[in-house]
Amino acid sequence: MHHFELKSGALHAEAVSLEALAQDVGTPAYVYSSATLTRHYAVLREAVDAHTAALGGPNGGEALIAYAVKANSNLSVLATLARLGCGADTVSEGEIRRALKAGVPASKIIFSGVGKTDAELGFAIDTGVRQINIESAAELDRLIAIAQDRGASPAIAIRVNPKIGAGGHAKITTGGEGDKFGVPVDEAMALYARASASPHVTPVGLACHIGSQITDLTPLEAAFRLLRSMTEELRAEGLSVERLDLGGGLGVPYVGADHASSIAASPAEYVAMAAGVLDGLNVEAAFEPGRLLAANAGILVSRVIQVTERADGRRFLVLDAAMNDLIRPAMYDAFHEVLPVRPRAGAPVAYDIVGPVCETGDTFARGRPMLPVEAGDLVIFAGAGAYGAVMASEYNSRPMVPEVLVDGERYAVIRPRPTLEEMLAREPMADWL
Ligand code: LLP
Repeated sequence: MHHFELKSGALHAEAVSLEALAQDVGTPAYVYSSATLTRHYAVLREAVDAHTAALGGPNGGEALIAYAVKANSNLSVLATLARLGCGADTVSEGEIRRALKAGVPASKIIFSGVGKTDAELGFAIDTGVRQINIESAAELDRLIAIAQDRGASPAIAIRVNPKIGAGGHAKITTGGEGDKFGVPVDEAMALYARASASPHVTPVGLACHIGSQITDLTPLEAAFRLLRSMTEELRAEGLSVERLDLGGGLGVPYVGADHASSIAASPAEYVAMAAGVLDGLNVEAAFEPGRLLAANAGILVSRVIQVTERADGRRFLVLDAAMNDLIRPAMYDAFHEVLPVRPRAGAPVAYDIVGPVCETGDTFARGRPMLPVEAGDLVIFAGAGAYGAVMASEYNSRPMVPEVLVDGERYAVIRPRPTLEEMLAREPMADWL
């Protein structure tokens, strides 16, 4: 459910006309809906709060929702979620700093990632983040040394590699045996015991994240069951396990809700499954959704540069957005619905939808049936709020795509498009040239 709808014949973001917005801000541009972000958080929060007994820890408290900042790290997006009480899952000092600046308290920030530097680990300790998720024995050793230097004992979780990979594409599957993430189960048990014996770290639990754009709950359930049995075993050894970080990964519909391939488990089903698995375990759960909160809260608005018709009947829809602005189709063969902002009458036509970048990879879709469009028309890419702007670049010297946040009738440019002069001014010329 989102707030990008047709009003008086043209698409709006909440109450804002995308035609007027595009006129003002230019294209391409990302546009996010505050109401949609808020709604997505509320739906998940409600689902989690319906299961406090199973997910809220021994005192029946609040399970943490820690938004995966990597999905969309714009400060205004983070601040919108922070004001709702959302925490943050971060993977770099930059993301921790963003979360703090947006108003997420350190006590709700989880620090994950497979290659945290010594400096980043030190920063996380000094900041007093809620928990550092450890991904290897070598990392634990480094953290212990850094914490010892500081006389600290940060809370840690061990991220388990459950040998259960899942997700929408091989490049976003993280839980498989050969993937770089997490500690294999046996090793994780030993590592937990070793960490528990150190005065310089405080193990509080286990973590796992098996992949992204997961639409079937089966692999997630298997991973959660594994965390449960590991918790029971560790406790049987006399070790304390208070928290389970269940990662993110729940998929979202990338096509209209009535499309057969869009059927993903709902947040309520997902949380109910987790609660069922963890029931009676007395652990405090954390969820790390990224895509679930952000994807359908954002679109990419683009203008048609021209329609190129070939003699063989092929039609190229050449847009002013390109793979540097939205890389998911090129990188993961991802599907994003492309819709005209002001639909024209007529029968659907098949287009090859492309951008201006000089490689064939800059193709968003081939032979995609769409209502007819003409040069100068506006189109949107749906489901672009997660892993869109954050993965953008200035490839082909196309200035960084701007971001806009809508809230009811108002909107704000929350990351402006640099001018060409500003883009060039960022590169000091080597002094011998
Ligand atoms: N927690 C951890 C430890 C993660 O690595 C990730 C995502 C998440 C949570 C959030 O996952 P989500 O709920 O968004 O599925 N760029 C790719 C997705 C990469 C996901 C990386 N990790 C894409 O555009 O599909």
